Amino acid sequence: MKLDKSNLLVLEGIRREYTVGGTTYPILQGIDLIVKTGDFLALMGPSGSGKSTLLNIIGCLDTPNSGNYILKDNDVSKMTISDLAKVRNKHIGFIFQNFNLIPSISVLENVLLPSFYMGNEDPKKAEELLVLVGLKDRINYRPNDLSGGQKQRVAIARSLINNPSLILADEPTGALDSKTGQEIMDLILSLNRDQNKTVLMVTHDMNIAHMAHRIIKLSDGKISK
Ligand SMILES: Nc1ncnc2c1ncn2[C@@H]1O[C@H](COP(=O)(O)OP(=O)(O)O)[C@@H](O)[C@H]1O
Ligand SMILES: [Mg+2]
Repeated sequence: MKLDKSNLLVLEGIRREYTVGGTTYPILQGIDLIVKTGDFLALMGPSGSGKSTLLNIIGCLDTPNSGNYILKDNDVSKMTISDLAKVRNKHIGFIFQNFNLIPSISVLENVLLPSFYMGNEDPKKAEELLVLVGLKDRINYRPNDLSGGQKQRVAIARSLINNPSLILADEPTGALDSKTGQEIMDLILSLNRDQNKTVLMVTHDMNIAHMAHRIIKLSDGKISK
């Protein structure tokens, strides 16, 4: 395991398989990956190749069958579920294709939610983040009263509330038209550039992928360079 200080995360030999109806399907078959602080990576690959599976492992939402994973000096591969949740809340922000907002609570409350789980809710900070993403005048709206692009802005503000070093974005522009998608990409790019957030983004759109510093491709369970 490399302990280079500039490495935000190191994956070695990560394997993940699913067993369905007695048949085992190997999905990730030995993933090696180093992501450095400040990187902006695009992860591409055919539908069903395991992109979300890999992102979920990196995001500590899922654990591999074997392999090593070091995130910020934490040996994540050996952690209990509750320690994984702590690491996840502290270090990682998530952005999803379908926003994953809770419809019954306000925009402000959605942004606060990850900090509620950490026991350090700061409404002032949530408001500042909503200003940052351009939603100052939508703070008390419900998610369903917003456009797709505005919903994704809320999700981006929510991803930042615990001040994570890593942002994981799974097809963040997948549900948006191309103009709105570009606006969301401009925002994600500015987080990387101006706030030194490390970003790992799944996309199947070549134009979007080319905005990243580096493109990695997943196929047949492995990363091809
Ligand atoms: N919880 C699960 N149980 C069984 N199979 C799964 C599960 N999650 C994903 N898979 C399968 O693993 C493969 C990879 O899925 P996924 O990581 O979502 O691919 P991608 O994001 O690249 O489209 C697919 O064949 C999918 O059906
Ligand atoms: Mg996916």
